[in-house]
Amino acid sequence: MIPSKKQYWHIEPDRGLLNDPNGLSWFHGLYYAFFQWNRFEKNHSHKEWGYCTSPDLTHWTFHGSALLPDQSYDAQGVYSGSALVIDDALHLFYTGNVKQDGQRRSSQCLAISTDGQHFLKTGPMFTTPDGYTEHFRDPKVFHAGGRYWMVIGAQQRTGKGAIVLFSSSDAQHWNLVGPLAQSEACQMIECPDLFLIDGTAVLLYCPQWRDNAHDLALHSFAAYKLTHFDTAAGTLDDRNLDDNRHLLDQGFDFYAPQTLQTPDGRRVILGWMSRMEDAQEAVFCQNEPRIHCLTMPRELFIQDGKLCQRPVRELSALLGAAVSPERSDSGLRFAPSHRYFRLMLEAPTGCSDLELSFGNGEWRFIYDAQQKVGTLTRRSWVQDGEETRSFALETCTALELWSDQSSIELFVNGGVHVLSARVFPTASQPDLRISGIDARTTVQVNELCMNEN
Ligand code: FRU
Repeated sequence: MIPSKKQYWHIEPDRGLLNDPNGLSWFHGLYYAFFQWNRFEKNHSHKEWGYCTSPDLTHWTFHGSALLPDQSYDAQGVYSGSALVIDDALHLFYTGNVKQDGQRRSSQCLAISTDGQHFLKTGPMFTTPDGYTEHFRDPKVFHAGGRYWMVIGAQQRTGKGAIVLFSSSDAQHWNLVGPLAQSEACQMIECPDLFLIDGTAVLLYCPQWRDNAHDLALHSFAAYKLTHFDTAAGTLDDRNLDDNRHLLDQGFDFYAPQTLQTPDGRRVILGWMSRMEDAQEAVFCQNEPRIHCLTMPRELFIQDGKLCQRPVRELSALLGAAVSPERSDSGLRFAPSHRYFRLMLEAPTGCSDLELSFGNGEWRFIYDAQQKVGTLTRRSWVQDGEETRSFALETCTALELWSDQSSIELFVNGGVHVLSARVFPTASQPDLRISGIDARTTVQVNELCMNEN
């Protein structure tokens, strides 16, 4: 029997399809994680905001629907957006999507909640300005330099992607500042986010290649760049979305990320843990009531000019008993009692060739010290064979792996590289093997446990 894909400690709805994280925020003592949700079917035919709350970014309570597509201006989708607490009220900014007779219309809308349970729509704030097509969505709002700012993902009338900036004194009446950054290569930008870490502006965005003639999405990924944002002028130093950008995640499944700031000032990111194609989705959710989840919350930091990620420290509340390894000539073998566990590997002087493999070929991570390459491989669930993701890796000194029932998130060298992947469970008895380690390398595996902390 195929083991269930139901995640143990990640955010996922009880049914239907989840996509982008939306409205990440801290309000009245709780974290809010809204998300794009089709509560009726495991496909993209209906989009509303569902939501979860948590006191600690670790234990989440699922609440069902927050915003339904029930108005003339959002009837074909309450699309992605963000949240900001203003005057003790949670403000939700989203794109109202309308599609009638093949014609798309987008407006940027507001809903307000004073109790975190009832969300009152106040309606559209503005429609698409001249110079852009109706692929104009995903407002992310923040406060800086005494003003509110909104970044929006867009397609210019030229058919090329852009991020557009608006500003406001009250977060309700918005003035177009202009294009903040542009692309010559891609046809749309989805889900932008802009914030400061230690004075550096971090721009997150998802370049998307489209077939404009047929209005079809072809290919996309989540990227970032580090630059400078001038809050007086509303300008970025680096306005080119095609150059000097980096992948946010080197794995298979990571998209449409969004960040929030914790009350103690940390910048935390969650992403949609999927880049599955239709055929992969169809097989993955067979006999399951739901499909897709969010990634774990990760703290962002900048190190040596790179944006790095580490699991938020609150997740250590999940750590349970240590699992003892079996040792043999070929290395270590761990058999935790569930598919959800955490592994820490430290090799202060750097690993030589290393192999971590799980579940008889479900996935493996290999570090090739000669080629200086790290490779994550997973077994395909739609055809015979495997899929791989490789990246340049000079040395490998630390691995931190967080596994759930049907996903892994791997942090390499303290979060300089991160790889996220859904995996298709075939083995209920976990079997993790590590080879290629020397005597100076330490490895620890812990069970994860929701209730004991
Ligand atoms: C990104 C995205 C957003 C849009 C939402 C609709 O995955 O396409 O641009 O608002 O999903 O669900």
